[in-house]
Amino acid sequence: MIDAAWAPALDAAATAPLTIVIGPGDAGKTTLVTALANALFDRGFSVGIVDADVGQSVLGPPTTVGVGRVTRVLQRPGDAELIAMAFVGATSPAANLTGTVVATGRMVARARAQGIARVLVDTGGLIAGDLGRALKQAKIDLLDPDLVVCLERGDECETVLRPYRAVARPRVVRLAPSPAARPRNAETRRRFREEALARYFAGSRRIVLDLRSVVLKRPALFGGEPLSVEKRREASAAIGHDVIWAERRHGDTAVLTATALTANEGRRLARIFEAGPVVAYAVVDLVGTLAGVDDAAGETTGLGVVRAIGIDPPSLELETPVAPDAIAVVTIGRAKF
Ligand SMILES: Nc1ncnc2c1ncn2[C@@H]1O[C@H](COP(=O)(O)OP(=O)(O)O)[C@@H](O)[C@H]1O
Ligand SMILES: [Mg+2]
Repeated sequence: MIDAAWAPALDAAATAPLTIVIGPGDAGKTTLVTALANALFDRGFSVGIVDADVGQSVLGPPTTVGVGRVTRVLQRPGDAELIAMAFVGATSPAANLTGTVVATGRMVARARAQGIARVLVDTGGLIAGDLGRALKQAKIDLLDPDLVVCLERGDECETVLRPYRAVARPRVVRLAPSPAARPRNAETRRRFREEALARYFAGSRRIVLDLRSVVLKRPALFGGEPLSVEKRREASAAIGHDVIWAERRHGDTAVLTATALTANEGRRLARIFEAGPVVAYAVVDLVGTLAGVDDAAGETTGLGVVRAIGIDPPSLELETPVAPDAIAVVTIGRAKF
């Protein structure tokens, strides 16, 4: 049974093909989405959940936006059957605002393409400040939901919602959190993420991808015009850093070094290469970072942890549960594991 206080949200969601639930952290968004999903499923609707919280993920591992179909009454939000996921690469949307919004849009489109009648979008708790406003409004503007449900203790959603009051869509329902909603501290959240990732990576193995055939999307390396070994040696000697790899891209030069360069060293390299600004990537930053892997259809099929990068030939060693022959594109994210 759904909490009586949530009846206005359920009544509205019953007539809304697309609902997005927003609010600060620990307001009970995921609990509400789960209850709404069950109530709508119970009424005979096909129901989908898009989990757009990249930190406290319940569908797909952290760093992804997942979409699932409700196939039975959910005991836990993660009980929905995972249909697809999209890699964002960060456990906080602040680190990749565009990626979070794009991934959410793609997963909602997936649910719609499946003909799911009622799609519920669960979101993370970043709503405060101009960043929170920008993120939430970008999601609303892109998704064009029929309904926005806001769980707020005070008026946390006011700045986000103000412009929508002046226009016809979406409908807005604002509710107070349940007194039973419990705050979680940063340590609890971190542990939740680490445990979810550990479960995801259980049974994974090390694979080596040949980056002449598999595309490295981010950082965009091995697609440009390689600089000669002599030029790299000259550059290495000049800045006192080993320049492992350098290539001319359109408008800049990408370099790979063992450790991070200072801005000044980057500028010195740019003068040596005489080809626009230098964008430097450090192996120490990339190793241990989570990567998303896409198949030939352009779908994120899983995650990997970067273990090594080779240049001769260009290669990437990943620890992943995904089979190497199913990987067409790799995106190295920002979060470490
Ligand atoms: N209506 C409720 N009844 C019981 N527990 C709740 C309720 N709403 C939230 N909680 C508890 O409070 C905590 C935070 O809720 P959650 O739904 O995860 O919040 P959010 O998704 O907004 O961060 C969880 O431990 C959850 O079980
Ligand atoms: Mg949540």
